[in-house]
Amino acid sequence: MEIVICPDAAAAGTLGAEAIVTLVKGKPDAVLGLATGSSPLAIYDELAARHDAGQVSFAQARGFTLDEYVGLPAEHPETYHNVIRRDFVNRVDFGADAVHGPDGLATDIPAFCASYEAAIAAAGGVDLQILGIGTDGHIGFNEPGSSLASRTRIKTLTRQTRVDNARFFDGDIDQVPTHCITQGLGTIMAARHVVLVASGTAKAEAVHQLAEGSVSALWPATILQHHPHVTVLLDEAAASRLQLGSYYRETYAAKPAWQGL
Ligand code: F6R
Repeated sequence: MEIVICPDAAAAGTLGAEAIVTLVKGKPDAVLGLATGSSPLAIYDELAARHDAGQVSFAQARGFTLDEYVGLPAEHPETYHNVIRRDFVNRVDFGADAVHGPDGLATDIPAFCASYEAAIAAAGGVDLQILGIGTDGHIGFNEPGSSLASRTRIKTLTRQTRVDNARFFDGDIDQVPTHCITQGLGTIMAARHVVLVASGTAKAEAVHQLAEGSVSALWPATILQHHPHVTVLLDEAAASRLQLGSYYRETYAAKPAWQGL
């Protein structure tokens, strides 16, 4: 796991975007794993700017989002289907139907989840998965207690996550759905490269656990310690609880340029 401590969230976003631009230039039909929420916004802003500047095209790329609320009407602005289109997909040149996400209105949820796993596999698997992290250590919506081998399924959101996400629902926790469909930890672990981005002090404990805690279902993101290629992009605040912060800084400063991310 590589930890990169950046001066601010914008710098972290630029690094994440560079990894995606490099991937898509070398493999135009790359499969991207897309996260929603605040954390990846700097990445998406940078990618949109580079697309506008003619530096990158997503015309052949494919995407799979991590998760979706269960039961929100299709036209609700906070469905992750709508959020990812607003924040990223509609700002670049993805083909029609190139970006898929869990169906929060599926009538047969287990059958839908199996079909979502099959669609990711049929696309050849995810080349680069963008992740945020919850204050409770979730990735996707794999809340504490999730099976470390889990696949796409329905989950109950913790109260903490619903409090955190109430900012997208007029500050009203009662408007935040109680359930979601999320890719599992096993699904995320199958991605070939994972880029996790976090900023702000609220994420500092989860980031410390992710990188330096014991692997445990109590902090689901710790499963990433078993992944061979994880890049963690942090601002100073999110890095503030890291025990080995100085080492990560020295390592990145001395990194040979040819290694890339
Ligand atoms: C979103 C997702 C979540 C978020 C996490 C952090 O698709 O899967 O794991 O990444 O809740 O959310 P933000 O970035 O809004 O702090």
